[in-house]
Amino acid sequence: MRVTFVGHATVLIEGSKNILIDPFFNGNPAAAMKIEDLPKIDYIVVTHGHGDHIGDTIEIAKKHGSTVISNFEIGLYLEKKGIDKVHTMHIGGRFDFGDMKIKLTPALHGSSIIEDGEIIYGGNPAGVVIEMDHRTVYHAGDTGLTKDMELLANDYIDLAMVPIGGNYTMDIEDAFVATKMIQPQMVIPIHYNTWPLIKADPEKFCQKVSEIGIRCRVLKPGESVEL
Ligand code: NI
Ligand code: MN
Repeated sequence: MRVTFVGHATVLIEGSKNILIDPFFNGNPAAAMKIEDLPKIDYIVVTHGHGDHIGDTIEIAKKHGSTVISNFEIGLYLEKKGIDKVHTMHIGGRFDFGDMKIKLTPALHGSSIIEDGEIIYGGNPAGVVIEMDHRTVYHAGDTGLTKDMELLANDYIDLAMVPIGGNYTMDIEDAFVATKMIQPQMVIPIHYNTWPLIKADPEKFCQKVSEIGIRCRVLKPGESVEL
């Protein structure tokens, strides 16, 4: 499995299936790839309704015929936008898609969708655990620190991707505590430095995490790890 950090919270996972998490390309100052550079996307996972996470889901899903996986409320919104393959789930629910399994996990955050100045209810925000090709990957979505993260240790996470930018999500201190609870084989910081409000030093985070014996990689946008 190859995991590519596209930038901000956007992650591309290539394996038996190609999965794109929170596809934010247009308007993303951190995006290292263009929509045209993407391989065929089988699934798109949307963790919550905010613009930097729903991003270009509609365009990409239509172009690739991707199945979009999200909570029920975002799923309804996307169906109204003409996406025919939507698979809705809810927090705590796991589903076996055949080549991979997905579980939505709790996130402490918001999830509204803003359209033409109106706020549309986007259900509860989530993180996601993906099992594919004998590897387990966790993308925290946007979240504050929550003790529920302790439960993720039971999922034997090979790779965790956690926000460190602060203000809207965990900062370095809290992401460090989260990582201690999750006990992943490896952690990658996300959701930082896209805008001044979420400025953070990813090397500082990795330094702290390395001191407790967990591997940490700072990926520049466009860089990948093989699992
Ligand atoms: Ni958000
Ligand atoms: Mn965000």
